Amino acid sequence: MRYRRMPIEIESPEQVGYANIRCNLTESSVSDMRLADLNLDLGPLVLAYSDHLGKPELRQLLVAGITGFTAQDVLVTASAAAALFIIATSLLDQDSHLVVVRPNYATNLETPRAIGCAIDFLDLEFEAGFRFDLERLESLVRPETRLISITTPHNPTGQTLSTAELQAVVALAERRDCHLLVDETYREMNFAGPTPLAASLSPRCISVASMSKAYGLPGIRIGWIITRDPALQEIFLAAKEQIFICNSIIDEQIAWQVLSRKAEILPPILERNRRAFETVKAWMGQQEDIEWVEPSGGVVCFPRLRPGVDVETFYRVLNSKYGTFVGPGHWFERDRRYMRLGYGWPSASELAEGLTNISLTLNETKE
Ligand SMILES: Cc1ncc(COP(=O)(O)O)c(C=O)c1O
Repeated sequence: MRYRRMPIEIESPEQVGYANIRCNLTESSVSDMRLADLNLDLGPLVLAYSDHLGKPELRQLLVAGITGFTAQDVLVTASAAAALFIIATSLLDQDSHLVVVRPNYATNLETPRAIGCAIDFLDLEFEAGFRFDLERLESLVRPETRLISITTPHNPTGQTLSTAELQAVVALAERRDCHLLVDETYREMNFAGPTPLAASLSPRCISVASMSKAYGLPGIRIGWIITRDPALQEIFLAAKEQIFICNSIIDEQIAWQVLSRKAEILPPILERNRRAFETVKAWMGQQEDIEWVEPSGGVVCFPRLRPGVDVETFYRVLNSKYGTFVGPGHWFERDRRYMRLGYGWPSASELAEGLTNISLTLNETKE
């Protein structure tokens, strides 16, 4: 493995220091929850090792209502990032081939690179509305392709695959005899409602998600892998045991208690996110110097500056004069003309101020 720090992590707000940012439009989650507001009962917890697959009641909840699934099909991991690492290192080696969507959450690209496998990228283009080109995907798959890796709802574009499109990718993976990783960390944040759990569509599918984005709990580091292939799950469990044995029992307990109250906790979060999205949409409608592909899920979008804006001056003025930060395109291996704009994390007033600051900066940096 050849590790290299990624720009998105080096320049992340938690590394820059939240106190140094006035308007934070860089985040890809909803607002972080405060422990005290969750009203949890953690006192009786014994701080022992926990079940290596993950707390059984938590695993049970994660597949509740999905026909044919049991808690055995779920492996709890220390975040979606850890899940993705486990899957990549279990399935890929220097002789295997991966097809992965780009841009993407950086780890989906970087861990396979660190492994040294052959990679082909399915590039999503602004001009094509960041849509998935299934024919192109098929053309990239080779006999030695071990894994196809997609993300829906997508980070950073906020685009989503319909159930029919997802089924078509699943059929392709089955036809070409490879595994399909679906990073569905934002599944519950699809504006049209969640598509089926990918793992329920085929034993070839591996679903990954976490508590970080929709529930605003990135600080507990709880994610999971769901697959109906027990042999594969056994390999993932072996990897987990070698990396961290089991999860933090405190984190699992928090995740379980929050998920037990999903019907109470999730709807207000989604409603707040919907209002924030409407704010961005209304603002975008008034902009001349920035254009976007309207997202259909998640908490982020990936607009770009039109020609005529000096890109480097734009970021300098936005950051230093207005204390406003967005995720610049190079975090996603794209031109810095693109930016990820996260609207779900800031308060309504911080979002409004941040958007105004972008407009003011654009007025000042037009060539
Ligand atoms: C698509 C996607 N997958 C996975 C992750 C990792 O999330 P976590 O490790 O906090 O669960 C992120 C974080 O930005 C993401 O956007």
